[in-house]
Amino acid sequence: MKTVLVGNIKGGCGKTTLATHIAAAFAATGRKTAIGDCDRQRSSLNWLRRRPESLPPIIGLDWSKDVASPPKGIERLVIDAPAAMHHKDVEDLIEISDVIVVPVLPGTFDEDATAHFLDRLAKVKVVRKNKRVVAVVGNRLRPGTRASDHLDGFFGGLGFPVVARLRDSQIYTNVASQGGTVFESRDRRATAYAAEWGPLIDLINR
Ligand SMILES: Nc1ncnc2c1ncn2[C@@H]1O[C@H](COP(=O)(O)OP(=O)(O)OP(=O)(O)O)[C@@H](O)[C@H]1O
Ligand SMILES: [Mg+2]
Repeated sequence: MKTVLVGNIKGGCGKTTLATHIAAAFAATGRKTAIGDCDRQRSSLNWLRRRPESLPPIIGLDWSKDVASPPKGIERLVIDAPAAMHHKDVEDLIEISDVIVVPVLPGTFDEDATAHFLDRLAKVKVVRKNKRVVAVVGNRLRPGTRASDHLDGFFGGLGFPVVARLRDSQIYTNVASQGGTVFESRDRRATAYAAEWGPLIDLINR
């Protein structure tokens, strides 16, 4: 089983958006895929409830109270971690994950919180020993704005690779409301947005 953890202590940075998209990308390859939703808001599970049966299936695991073992036969697991999670619990999730994906939005508060999260992440033994893949993803970018330019400067000083840059678009709220993703959307703009995920999906499937 391959496990991807999506986490950051910053709220609203796109954890659920990334977790649902990564799960959909896995499911599209025909692998038996599950999302472990650790957030009491259960956003990923609510998204799954809206997901049409015509789309590749994803199993929802309610881990909002306790993280349990995934059912047998799951080949791909995506964990949606809540912002307000105790560091020890995050460490336990890192332990069972192969890849850790960290979304970050443009903006000083987001950069500060993410820097703090990445500092702590870097100190976790398995990460320090290079036994985990860590991927930073810039999210809700609006090219040409001061905040997005500033985020590029922030990326330059990170000890972790920035593998994807996702633009800000209403298409994300639209697809989320229908249990879908930009990969599965019929919106004609979706292909261009889906392409921005390419390097992240490649890394995860490697
Ligand atoms: N690239 C994007 N463009 C536009 N809107 C986006 C994008 N990514 C996420 N959003 C929107 O931003 C909001 C927050 O995203 P999301 O719920 O994925 O963040 P989160 O980190 O899971 O939040 P929380 O900390 O509350 O769990 C949602 O309404 C989502 O649709
Ligand atoms: Mg969330």
